[in-house]
Amino acid sequence: MPRDSALATLQGGSRDEALASGRSRLRAAGVEAADEDARLLLQGACGVDRLAMVIGGDLPVSGDEARRFLEFLDRRVGGEPASRILGRRAFWTLDLEVRPGVLDPRGDTEALVRLALRVALQAGQTPRRILDLGCGSGALLCALLSEFPAASGVGVDVSEGACAAAIANLALCGLDGRASVVRGHWFDQVEGAFDLIVSNPPYIPAGEIDALDREVRDHDPRLALDGGEDGLDAYREIFVGARRVLAPGGAIAVEFGLGQAADVARLARDRGLQKVDSEQDLGRRDRAAAFRVE
Ligand SMILES: C[S@@+](CC[C@H](N)C(=O)[O-])C[C@H]1O[C@@H](n2cnc3c(N)ncnc32)[C@H](O)[C@@H]1O
Repeated sequence: MPRDSALATLQGGSRDEALASGRSRLRAAGVEAADEDARLLLQGACGVDRLAMVIGGDLPVSGDEARRFLEFLDRRVGGEPASRILGRRAFWTLDLEVRPGVLDPRGDTEALVRLALRVALQAGQTPRRILDLGCGSGALLCALLSEFPAASGVGVDVSEGACAAAIANLALCGLDGRASVVRGHWFDQVEGAFDLIVSNPPYIPAGEIDALDREVRDHDPRLALDGGEDGLDAYREIFVGARRVLAPGGAIAVEFGLGQAADVARLARDRGLQKVDSEQDLGRRDRAAAFRVE
């Protein structure tokens, strides 16, 4: 449909009608989560939350809202993820800012949050100090600090943009008083002992990056994806450093890619870390494991 007619159809129609039209456009373009994305983009275009969208479905869409929605749909059809278009992402119970050049946190990473919570609670006391290695947007650190109100945390990332994003998200969640973010290479700038270490490091084998979906390849930074030749470089370094900063009885929990569970467990074992628990992602695939010093 030509742009002017599309605009005329949306403008003055109801939000429910705009949603239905956005859905069909995204479905026709083969967008995987077409229904969810159309809803998020319309909410963003109208500046309302999910509840307002549900109860205000018969409200009319203004000219500005219609124009914004069409622009968002164009960008989504062009391969830009909805979270990047809106600059926001729901993660765990939080609403986080997503910045260009910083990894967009994924729903699958909530497996690591679930695992970290379980393992920390199994120890019989809540963690006092939490370390997030390769913190990116700060998603993991924010989620864990929100669940453990007595804990403090440190986020580490080698990317300046990621450190700035993590600081912004900690402030957005009201958690900046209990956390600091340092720029550095894994443990280089890390001092002291931690009861809980989490990490979702880069784990894609370098040779597979060009074949990733364009939504990942074109929008997430290579630094957040590239795990070296076999995808496991980061774990080799992280498990060495973990031994130095884990408090007695502490645990480290890491995310990994599909099919990497056994290799990651072997690398941990080689460094004297014993697997104590694991967790699956939304597709019921092994995606995170936790370890303690043997
Ligand atoms: C897969 S992303 C994870 C981001 C965030 N933790 C999440 O789960 O959404 C990996 C992160 O590790 C960071 N990183 C890569 N190499 C690093 C290094 N040598 N030291 C510290 N951070 C590093 C990247 O900049 C990126 O932010």
